[in-house]
Order: sequence, then C-alpha cells, then structure tokens
Amino acid sequence: MKGGGAYINIGSSSSSINSSVSGSGSANGSKMTLGKSVKMYLTIFIATTCIYMVLYQYHMSREPFSPSEIGKPPLYIITPTYRRPEQLAELTRLGYTLKHVANLLWLVIEDANKTNPLVAHTLDRIGVPYEYMVAPMPEKYKQTKKAKPRGVSNRNRGLEYLRQHATEGVLYFADDDNTYDISIFEQMRYISKVGMWPVGLVTKTGVSSPIIRNGKLDGYYDGWIGGRKYPVDMAGFAVNIKFLRQRPHAQMPFKPGYEEDGFLRSLAPLANDEIDLLADECRDILTWHTQTKKNPPAQALNKTRYSNTNLEHIDKLLVRP
Ligand code: UGA
Ligand code: MN
Repeated sequence: MKGGGAYINIGSSSSSINSSVSGSGSANGSKMTLGKSVKMYLTIFIATTCIYMVLYQYHMSREPFSPSEIGKPPLYIITPTYRRPEQLAELTRLGYTLKHVANLLWLVIEDANKTNPLVAHTLDRIGVPYEYMVAPMPEKYKQTKKAKPRGVSNRNRGLEYLRQHATEGVLYFADDDNTYDISIFEQMRYISKVGMWPVGLVTKTGVSSPIIRNGKLDGYYDGWIGGRKYPVDMAGFAVNIKFLRQRPHAQMPFKPGYEEDGFLRSLAPLANDEIDLLADECRDILTWHTQTKKNPPAQALNKTRYSNTNLEHIDKLLVRP
C-alpha cells in the first residue's frame, strides 16, 4: 500500500499547511485542499505546456527550413567540376548559396576518373544534400588543340542519374564558377516544361537574354548567335523533370559553344509559348556568368624546412592540377 500511504501523507501535510494558513475547520479544510491541489496541478500543467511550446518554437527556429518549404517541388542542381587550384573555393561559394534553398539535391559531378576526398570533405562541411560522382571527358576531346566540350560528360551523367532517381521537380545546370541569386531557385521550382531568364556577364552585350515583346518570347539577345536556335547561356534555363523524362533521348552534345542549344533542341517538341519566362518576365538579372581568375598551381612545400608545422596539414588541402 505504498500509494495509499503516500496519499495520506500528502493529504495530512497539505491539511496542516491549510489549517495554519487559513485556520478553517477540518471539513471545509479538505475541500479547500482539494481546490488548492487542483489549482497547483493546473498551474504545473500550464507552466509545463508553456515551457514545452517555447522550446518547440526555439527548436523550429533553429531548423533551416519550415515544413511548408520542405513540401515544395524538389530541385536537382547539376554542377560540373574539375580539378584545379580554384576548385574548392568555387564549390564552397556555390555550396553556401545552395544552402539557403530548401528541398534540393546537389549533383556534383567531377570530370575525373576517381573522386577526390578533399572535394567530398568540402561538400560534407557545407552540409547541402549531395551526390558526388565522376564522369571523365572522353580522351579524344581531352587531346584536342581546339575548344573542349567542358562539363558535357558531367552533365550527361547527371541526366542519367535523374532518369534513374527523379520523378518530379526541376533540373538546373549550375556551373561551379557562376553567381546565383537564391530567388531564381524558388522561381524555377514551378517551371512546367522549360524556363528561361537573363544571364549577366555574357559576351560583349554584357547579358544574354530572351527578348520579350508584347509579353511574348520574340528571339534572343546575345553577343554571339552562331546559328543557334536557342542562343542562351547554361545558367539561363531550367527544365521540368517530368518533361525531361518524356524525352528519353534528350542529352547534351560534345560540341563546344553549342551545348545549350543542342540540349534544348533535343527536348523537342517545345513551342516558344511553352517556355516560362522567369526573373520578372526577363526584366531582372539573377544569374551571372562570372569567371574566376586562373591561379598558378601551388609550389611544392619544402618538407624538411617545415616539418612538424601546420604547413604540413595545409599542404594536403591544396588542389594541384
Ligand atoms: C561557358 C558556359 O557557361 C558553359 O556552360 C559551357 O560548358 C562552356 O562555356 C563551354 O562551352 O565550354 P565557361 O565559363 O567558358 O563556360 O567554362 P568553364 O566555367 O571553364 O566550364 C564550364 C563548367 O564545366 C564548369 O562547371 C567547370 O567546372 C566544368 N569543366 C570545365 C569541366 O568539368 N571540365 C573541364 O575540363 C573544364
Ligand atoms: Mn565558367
């Protein structure tokens, strides 16, 4: 009878408190005791609920994205990358941009035969959901003295991944060195087939953009048209996944200068009025074709001179071509 004993104890102790405070009779006193303990339990209950709610609110405010953001159509960002001194810096900058975007999978695909642990470490540290894959440029293109089809095998590997793993949402090719305003990602989620928008810092015109006349797509503005049906930059369009999957042969050609055009043509049939015009109907610039200055490869570290120093550690973080 442990419980009963405890009950009696509580009752008697509160009754004694009760009598000492109010000085009322014993029958009346037990009623008051009951009332007081109900009040006490109610107070504890309300206080606990309040504390719980405050903690929950705090927890939710620490979560990067709200449940409504997580329910948005997914974005698949295909980023070609390759080994060079700037690589980790480019990936870090792009990665922290993407970290502001909910429900996104970052497909980082390196033009290499094997993955690089330094790249994987950088991606882990950034904390954006990612897949890191390799897709080397075919040898015949690597050897050529002419312009190379940069990032093409990488992007086609990304398309292959999407055909296997993605059913809905939107795909975007984000080169590792460009600059992106995060609002373009929110806009591209809702593209029904293909979406386009201006890209700054492209050719002598300073911008590559669809031309909109009377609310309709009416050609393209770009310093180099080159006989292209779609003279647009890689950073200036995105494609709906369902639409892509209805075109099982769509891919990017190994044709320098014509990668975007070739890929968009391979999405036929696609009528001009089926192209969504983003960035305030192409009146705004939200992506830029920035180019990073090439840096010379880091010289070898003098291992004798700097043995047992931090430089031995830093040296392992340098990407040498
Ligand atoms: C421009 C376009 O913006 C690219 O989308 C296009 O692929 C390229 O021209 C081209 O036609 O060759 P650009 O700034 O000149 O891009 O080229 P990079 O930034 O050097 O390369 C484009 C992407 O491919 C980058 O993400 C880069 O990391 C990757 N890349 C570059 C490779 O995967 N392998 C390479 O050997 C070079
Ligand atoms: Mn570039």
